[in-house]
Amino acid sequence: MLTEKLVSFIVRKQVKKYFRLQPAVAGKISLNRTPQAPLLLYLHIPFCEELCTYCSFHRVLFQESIAREYFAALRQEIYMYKQANYNFQAAYIGGGTPTILLDELAETIKLIRSVFAINEISVETNPNHLDREKMQILQAAGIERLSVGVQSFNDDILKSIGRYDKYGSGKDIIPKIRDLQGWFKTVNIDMIFNFPLQTEEMLKQDLVIIRDLKVDQVTFYPLMIAATTRNDMERKIGIVNNKRGKKYFEMITAELQKEYRASTAWCFSKNDALIDEYVVNYDEYAGIGSGAFGYLNGTVYANLFDIPEYINQVKQENFPVVAKREFNKKSIMLYEFLMQFFGQSLNLAYIRKKHGFWATLYLYPIIFFFLVVRGLKSTGEDGGYIVRKPYYGVIMMREFFTAVNNFRDYCRAKVNNML
Ligand SMILES: C[S@@+](CC[C@H](N)C(=O)[O-])C[C@H]1O[C@@H](n2cnc3c(N)ncnc32)[C@H](O)[C@@H]1O
Ligand code: SF4
Repeated sequence: MLTEKLVSFIVRKQVKKYFRLQPAVAGKISLNRTPQAPLLLYLHIPFCEELCTYCSFHRVLFQESIAREYFAALRQEIYMYKQANYNFQAAYIGGGTPTILLDELAETIKLIRSVFAINEISVETNPNHLDREKMQILQAAGIERLSVGVQSFNDDILKSIGRYDKYGSGKDIIPKIRDLQGWFKTVNIDMIFNFPLQTEEMLKQDLVIIRDLKVDQVTFYPLMIAATTRNDMERKIGIVNNKRGKKYFEMITAELQKEYRASTAWCFSKNDALIDEYVVNYDEYAGIGSGAFGYLNGTVYANLFDIPEYINQVKQENFPVVAKREFNKKSIMLYEFLMQFFGQSLNLAYIRKKHGFWATLYLYPIIFFFLVVRGLKSTGEDGGYIVRKPYYGVIMMREFFTAVNNFRDYCRAKVNNML
């Protein structure tokens, strides 16, 4: 417990520094990439039919006219990256709800496939969009991975987080997920553990349902709270007890490891060929769309959160960036360490080759610490380590995402003040 507290504390302090972003002026920035680094394209669709209590992603209530204008701007921004000579190997379309206007989504996918050499595309969706007609459109568009937000199959939990009425009960969702089998190379479901009212029994039932559904992949996030969602969440769903998170996580791994392998600290996949977390598989990514984050050549940047302003800047062919921060070598090392740890193994030889021997010296005390607390184990190969205690990865990523969420909240508050 003490080690977990220490790991959380250190990561919280470090990531606070990462997200002290400096304001940037849209259009006046340059976004450079590292030559040869595998590049991913992240597209953000910020519209939802219902706003869930716990969610701190950049999302607004769906309005068709603004959403159509938004998709047009998104395609314009894609062209801007093309004109700047970018190419991407994969695309991740997240939200919000990317499948909110399927004709617009299909047109956008057609565009990215025509201008970039994309090998795989992953799209997020919600259970109320899982009908045959929509799946046919997504399949025809060449989606390889579909990720469905379930969170829990327990109706009391679904009611408390504001999803039951819009996205259906556990019993409604189960057959829809079952019917997805075979439509895409990877079907993932997003689940959350450690909701305040979730008992061990409720979690066990969710795990039984998941094993019975035989989905290709399960992502089990710990419930994360951002500063500005905390009050509303505590009022509606109760106080989150992080102390029992480890126990719940151990229940999840014990059950899922019977049929799945951990492909990241919180993602469980049936086999190696499946597509999963892009932050682990791609060293760099460009963030396109309102409120999207990118990480290119050691610089993290965020796009404008104000949707009309985003559209306006893109129409003027300006990169719609609102803030950015150049990481120093130490921050780059820590970021890469964190992503590799999260991905379950560490390849120090790769980091050394990329950044030089001296830069990696920063990492030795950290690696030593994790060897002492038995979180890492050497593979015997030069600079090779495997993760022995994935829960440390969960804690570190929880702190990292909480910092991202807080930064989003800060930007959202700014947008609200302006309206
Ligand atoms: C941001 S949503 C976008 C896709 C879709 N709208 C949905 O609800 O699944 C993607 C996933 O993020 C996860 N998520 C959102 N807010 C979270 C939070 N506060 N803590 C943990 N996971 C969260 C949920 O599992 C959700 O399914
Ligand atoms: S969890 Fe998904 S559906 Fe709910 S508000 Fe967030 S993005 Fe929208």
